[in-house]
Amino acid sequence: MSAEEALDRVYAASSDPTTQAELYDDWAASYDHDLEVSGYATPGRIAELLAEHLTDHDAPVLDFGCGSGMSGRALADAGFTTIDGTDLSTGMLEQAEHSGAYRRLWQLTAGQLDVSPGTYRAVVACGVISVGAAPAGTLTLVASAVGPGDMVVVSFNDHTLEDDEYMATLQALLDDGFEQVAAEHGVHIASRDMGSTVFLLRRRD
Ligand SMILES: C[S@@+](CC[C@H](N)C(=O)[O-])C[C@H]1O[C@@H](n2cnc3c(N)ncnc32)[C@H](O)[C@@H]1O
Repeated sequence: MSAEEALDRVYAASSDPTTQAELYDDWAASYDHDLEVSGYATPGRIAELLAEHLTDHDAPVLDFGCGSGMSGRALADAGFTTIDGTDLSTGMLEQAEHSGAYRRLWQLTAGQLDVSPGTYRAVVACGVISVGAAPAGTLTLVASAVGPGDMVVVSFNDHTLEDDEYMATLQALLDDGFEQVAAEHGVHIASRDMGSTVFLLRRRD
């Protein structure tokens, strides 16, 4: 399967967690190559934005939906030293283990995130919460793991930016407990001419 065929498959997928885990298990071995040749830019953009706003680069950061480790490697390249990762897909987690970017990795059960607020100074979800991937409510789950003063950094691709349910979920966080520190639109996947907005939110004290 070519990189473009793999992306076609992903963008047509349902957000059902079993479907997602199977899809990414199948794709795990060639995911990094396919995304590199497609010009996947969001991991680097997220990591650089977080590095500007979280200047203690030894602070613990959780890479939610870490996949094969591309987002964790980008965080490490931006200077972060204490990165944990979690994902639904066993195949992707095996790749993430090889990336060497993570202190700890574990497998998620969909809809559950057993992390006490305050454990991480930031939780990142890069390319995870979007139409055809994790459902909108996943953003609320991620936010529930973040304590006062700590951050959520999430990317929404262009399809997701036009989806009322995802945007309403984001707005609900802003209406109740979070401030928007930054929102930057840029390249998501160059070969598709697709963009994403990276939102950096902070829980108010
Ligand atoms: C496009 S990949 C992004 C991986 C990595 N963050 C990156 O930027 O390369 C999407 C990841 O989200 C995971 N995923 C899909 N649905 C999920 C859900 N409901 N909860 C958590 N992770 C999910 C998939 O297993 C997959 O590894």
